[in-house]
Amino acid sequence: MMTSFTTTLLFAIITFLALVSSAPIDTRDVYVPPVLYPNHRTVWRAGSTHNVTWDTSSPPAQITNKRGTIVLAKGDYLVGLESPLAKGFDILNGRQEVTIPTDTKPGNDYSIVLFGDSGNNGERFTITN
Ligand SMILES: *[C@@H]1O[C@H](CO)[C@@H](O)[C@H](O)[C@H]1NC(C)=O
Repeated sequence: MMTSFTTTLLFAIITFLALVSSAPIDTRDVYVPPVLYPNHRTVWRAGSTHNVTWDTSSPPAQITNKRGTIVLAKGDYLVGLESPLAKGFDILNGRQEVTIPTDTKPGNDYSIVLFGDSGNNGERFTITN
C-alpha cells in the first residue's frame, strides 16, 4: 500500500527527472548588448536619420542570433513592430542607421528596443515634429 509519503516522494522524483531531462543542453549564451544611443538627452526629429549605437564590448563566444532588429517603443509599448526601424543587421556592428518615420507623433517617452537573442530597451528619448 502506498502511503502519502511514498506518493509524495514518487511525485518528487518524477518531477525531478522531468526537469532534468528537459534542461537545455544548448549552452550558447543569450546576448543582449545595452543600447547607448539615443539616451535621455536625445531629441530626434520625425523623418530624420540617426545611428543607434550599442555596447558590443563583451560578446559571448557563441551567439544564438547574430541578426538584430530595432523597433521603436513609446512608453511601455512597441510601436510599429510590423515595420521595424531596421532588421537583419549584424548585432556585433554596434551601430545601425535608422530613420524615424515622418508620421511619428511627438513625445518624450520613446525608446529604442534592440532585439537579438532577446530584447533590450535603451533610455527614453524625445521625438519632435
Ligand atoms: C552613421 O555612422 C556611419 C559610420 O560612422 C556614418 O557613415 C553615417 O554618416 C552615420 N549616419 C548618420 C545619420 O549620422
